[in-house]
Amino acid sequence: MSQITITTPDDWHLHFRDGELLNETVPATARCFRRAIVMPNLAPPVRNRTEAMAYKERIVAATPTGSPFEPLMVLYLTNQTTAEDIIEACGKDIPAAKLYPAGATTNSDAAVSAIESLYPIFEAMSEAGMLLLIHGEVTDPETDIFDREKLFIDQHLAPIHARFPKLKIVFEHITTADAADFVLDANDMLAATITPQHLLLNRNDLLVGGIRPHNYCLPVLKRNTHQQRLREVVASGSSKFFLGTDSAPHAKHTKETACGCAGCYSAWGALELYAQVFDDLDALDKFEGFASFNGPDFYGLARNTGHVTLKRESWTMPEEIALPNGDSIVPFFAGQTLNWQIT
Ligand code: DOR
Ligand code: ZN
Repeated sequence: MSQITITTPDDWHLHFRDGELLNETVPATARCFRRAIVMPNLAPPVRNRTEAMAYKERIVAATPTGSPFEPLMVLYLTNQTTAEDIIEACGKDIPAAKLYPAGATTNSDAAVSAIESLYPIFEAMSEAGMLLLIHGEVTDPETDIFDREKLFIDQHLAPIHARFPKLKIVFEHITTADAADFVLDANDMLAATITPQHLLLNRNDLLVGGIRPHNYCLPVLKRNTHQQRLREVVASGSSKFFLGTDSAPHAKHTKETACGCAGCYSAWGALELYAQVFDDLDALDKFEGFASFNGPDFYGLARNTGHVTLKRESWTMPEEIALPNGDSIVPFFAGQTLNWQIT
């Protein structure tokens, strides 16, 4: 196959950040996605409808003129979130709220330290029809970083799902066979996003031959057997898995340092990288479901009506993206060849 046309896709998990950086991140995503679920881990975070709508306006202001791109907003859950916050926020423009265990990742210090104490909030979300998006890692410092996702399933996700079987849950950016199999075995109210980096790479790509800070993200890349399981489930065409890049910009100097930030900025090649994965797996017939159908179907939103065509033609991801403030970002896959290009 030398080209493929699919229904316009959406990105069901990404980070735009705020301020001047929106002029970089929003056009990069609007280039190929019609909608995106925008993560609320700003500093301070997006905690209620007022903050979410103000943030949405800033994103819309940074959207290229004439672009049909639409940001979908997310509330950031804290131990102070109330049922009223949920009821007031829930709607087409704010379809979800995000659970970060406190300390799990970038800007999560203000997040949830006692997950069980949020059960009344999950109840309100279940009743209102608001989705719960979960960063699924335990944060206990004793727990090995490679085991954090599996333990989160046992200690938190399985109990939440059992207690709220009608609450729609997206297990975000899954990285392990344990997570993939848990999602497959769960009822239809549980689904998962998978990033390009977790499909393309494993922990050797982070650590062999030197530390590669631009492949460092959270949850951290796992061993090859987990990567293979993720590839298998997307190639299977299961409707429980969909596209969520977790594209997360960090300035070069904050990644190439003694204590570097977590996140891969994949927006410049997101759709093309996923196409590469499905092509490698000889599963291009499953690409459209993953990229364009499974996400809106799970969220209960309409599928997009436009189309995008990719052709098999090589190009090279730039080494760096310059920002107006003098900083730069090293994009995911920098300097490497991609096999598919959007026409
Ligand atoms: O690698 C990551 N980067 N994982 C996250 O969960 C957050 C994200 C960010 O905000 O930079
Ligand atoms: Zn994320």
